Amino acid sequence: MPATAASNDDARLPRHVAIIMDGNGRWAEQRGKFRVSGHKAGVKSVRAAVSVGYRLGLDALTLFAFSSENWRRPEDEVSALMSLFIAVLGSEVRKLHRNNIRLRIIGDRSAFAPHLQCKINDAESLTANNTGLTLNIAANYGGRWDITQAAQQLAGRVQQGELTPEAITEELINEHIQLADLAPVDLLIRTGGEQRISNFLLWQLAYAELYFTSVLWPDFGEEAFSDAIAAFVSRERRFGCTGAQIRGMLKQE
Ligand code: IPE
Ligand code: IPE
Ligand code: MG
Repeated sequence: MPATAASNDDARLPRHVAIIMDGNGRWAEQRGKFRVSGHKAGVKSVRAAVSVGYRLGLDALTLFAFSSENWRRPEDEVSALMSLFIAVLGSEVRKLHRNNIRLRIIGDRSAFAPHLQCKINDAESLTANNTGLTLNIAANYGGRWDITQAAQQLAGRVQQGELTPEAITEELINEHIQLADLAPVDLLIRTGGEQRISNFLLWQLAYAELYFTSVLWPDFGEEAFSDAIAAFVSRERRFGCTGAQIRGMLKQE
């Protein structure tokens, strides 16, 4: 990746893209493999998405890696996902840091093993002052959890006498919701063909464009991401860039 990201001032590119990375299990099953090999194959698509986001000069990219409902999966799949998460954090963080990318994990991290929580804290501290793309990984995240934790913080302030109930406005709730300090989500992409939100960013998606594709996450590369961006640009401006043009805006690695 180049040292500086592309500027996205001219084209009406999204500033913040969120992705529900779905379809890993089916990708593996179609190949007669265990589901976990689909999750492993999905890591390559994460790298591609980060690279595209960086080179397009996005402010933020938010990836749904593990939902608060995914604990319901078979124990061996959950533990394979946790191991993969730890391994990827270990292998990728320095590279992200070298590329001026700020990494954040959103979600209820109290459910994670202590050593994973430590790794998360270290990764966030290392990259905290980076000024390039902000990469948010949603892990043990649920949109309802997010709104609930904001409500709890505000209720605490009311109880302390710092705030009256009438002073709770949309803006104030917004300040306590995850990602509050970032540009609003402009574009939500869901791979894997389902057309639902699955308890991802409920509050933050209020005005987002929604883009659903049947491409399975491990197959979602630079080309598929460019097509999604092009669809967003055409919806915004009513005249379309093509995927090829968006790819033309990507600086060479
Ligand atoms: C998404 O892929 C990854 C996670 C939820 C962790 P899935 O594992 O949901 O893949 P499908 O939907 O079963 O194909
Ligand atoms: C959503 O995918 C969660 C992630 C991609 C991490 P799921 O596969 O868990 O969603 P449902 O169960 O199909 O709604
Ligand atoms: Mg799924």
